[in-house]
Amino acid sequence: MIDKETIGRIFDTADIVEVISEFVQLKKAGANYKGLSPFANEKTPSFMVSPSKGIFKDFSSGKGGNVVSFLMEIEKLTYPDALRYLAKKYNIEIVEKEKTEEDIQQENERESLLVISSFANKFFIDKLNKNAEGKAIALKYLQERGFRENMIEKFQLGYNPDYSTALTEELLKNGFKKEYISKSGVASESNGKFFDRFRGRIIFPIHGLSGSVQGFGGRTLRSDKNVAKYLNSPESEIYHKSRILYGLFFAKKSIITSDRCLLVEGYTDVIAFHQAGIENVVASSGTALTVEQIRLIKRFTPNVTIIYDGDEAGIKASFRGIDLVLEEGLNIRVLLLPDGEDPDSFSRKKSSSELVEFIDKNEQDFISFKSGILLKDAEKDPVKKATLVNDILRSVSMIPETINRSIYIKECSSILNMDEHVLYSEVNKLRRKKQNQKWTSRPSYEEVVPKESPSQPQVPAFVEAVYSEYEERDVINFLLRYGNDMLNLADEEGEISVAKYIIREIQNDQLEIENLVYKKVFETVQGLLEKNMEIKDKYFVFHEDKKIQDLAVEIFTEKHEISKIWRKKDNYIELPGDNPGIAVPKALLAYKSRIITKAIKETQDKISKASKSEDLEDVRELQSQFINLKEIQMLISRQLGARTIISP
Ligand code: CTP
Ligand code: MN
Repeated sequence: MIDKETIGRIFDTADIVEVISEFVQLKKAGANYKGLSPFANEKTPSFMVSPSKGIFKDFSSGKGGNVVSFLMEIEKLTYPDALRYLAKKYNIEIVEKEKTEEDIQQENERESLLVISSFANKFFIDKLNKNAEGKAIALKYLQERGFRENMIEKFQLGYNPDYSTALTEELLKNGFKKEYISKSGVASESNGKFFDRFRGRIIFPIHGLSGSVQGFGGRTLRSDKNVAKYLNSPESEIYHKSRILYGLFFAKKSIITSDRCLLVEGYTDVIAFHQAGIENVVASSGTALTVEQIRLIKRFTPNVTIIYDGDEAGIKASFRGIDLVLEEGLNIRVLLLPDGEDPDSFSRKKSSSELVEFIDKNEQDFISFKSGILLKDAEKDPVKKATLVNDILRSVSMIPETINRSIYIKECSSILNMDEHVLYSEVNKLRRKKQNQKWTSRPSYEEVVPKESPSQPQVPAFVEAVYSEYEERDVINFLLRYGNDMLNLADEEGEISVAKYIIREIQNDQLEIENLVYKKVFETVQGLLEKNMEIKDKYFVFHEDKKIQDLAVEIFTEKHEISKIWRKKDNYIELPGDNPGIAVPKALLAYKSRIITKAIKETQDKISKASKSEDLEDVRELQSQFINLKEIQMLISRQLGARTIISP
């Protein structure tokens, strides 16, 4: 583990222009640098580096971040590895955090298990290729199934002889500790004795991302139905089934260049595809896809094509996990193979180009695939159909990008033969429900004592803050971009910084920023001000919370500096950077206006309810609130319309 101080030193020292220049040819453009995107194929440069802010932004792919995120993106490094890369480049000594007894033990265990796996792997390979039994039975089996020698070698296939201590004896002879032998799972213990787990099986070693062997799958050579076809390594310090995708180590290069990942079920499917010349393929190894596996794929591409053998039961079972995948923002397509074929058998009948063509032609986007299958059952049964529509819309509502969502809604509308608007409003409902669940745990501010008289219309205390992300985002925008700038407001004594002004205004009204990321930014700025510290871009760009990093990069690289909210309301455009004295109060007004407008609507609803129940006391109280709110709304509108809040 790298300690915090060292991370700070690395961030301080690393020169983003210098680091990126090793991957992208950069040209100076004003205060920034420009170049061709390394993540997309483009002719006009849209890749921007800002040395002063320490960030890059790729307008083609939308990627952006700090120097570490760049390395993670381009080299597919993990966060600590990207830090180590920079430390090495800038000769910074990495002080690894002092390890606890537990850390050391865990590390020893990992190391030992990896050594045993590697030893066992060599043993299995040797037995498949050199041992008489291995050659006669196992190698022959693989050859008869059509696996070529170069593939057997590449995937390091092996064989565990059909003798209960073949491997165990070797391990003990070589001094491996019994504890680790048993934890590695290549042998199992019974009454103090060890027996090979994979006895008499063909071995498929499972590699981690860096190529080390982390576990094994063993296929039986018997056709006895009572014997499990595959046995896999048990969970251990180095083997976590839910986090492994078989074949990823051999596929990652091809996944990046083709920008697509094919997902099959089994070991043999992966190998058969490689043999057919298609290498961007991984297997979930017979389990339902997990979020961890999805994130693993997402490091390389957002495009996944699931290839199923055509049986319907399996397909339906797989639907369960699929919302998870959509929620991660991946583009999922599905390819059904002709009846009775699996990727292994099917790929053997096609040439590589035929196979690619077949995939391209026959893959379907997930939503239409799902609706197609389910619709078959439901066509004549309205109750079933309603459930189906709900089911599909829930999937659609999981998709994070608005544009993708609307494309799917269009498609559903035509497949399901339902009005697009109805579908839209259903999906929005589902999304709102999901959001509400996110926002319910809302910690409240500590007692806030209102300071000097506010310069803005105040939101009355009875108004509950409502979620208004758009306006909130605008306020946060100004906080980060212009926080240190000084405002000279007409009704203000002397100057006040943008940050102080914004924080004061929001505190005075006891409003709460609801979006949790914005809120964290707000509180961070608050903390900085309390310590009389300057608000530095880098503080957010290198923030330990990745979500804040992302937000800061987005805000610092936004092309349109002016808020859309008040550009709509006024038909003149003025860059807030030039004149924060106008822009900032307006953004705050817009934010408050939004809250007031919602409160008015709610009060109206309450009034009509109270009138119905003839609760006159309540009605009177509500009516006075209503008038109060209306007055504030007027005040805000007037101020929003006025141009000069500023004195020169
Ligand atoms: N699997 C497993 N345990 C089983 C059966 C299957 O772990 N008892 C996993 C394996 O990873 C296997 C995958 O599920 O590769 C797919 O299963 P299946 O299609 O039955 O096997 P194939 O890989 O097609 O193997 P083969 O072609 O040799 O029958
Ligand atoms: Mn098969």
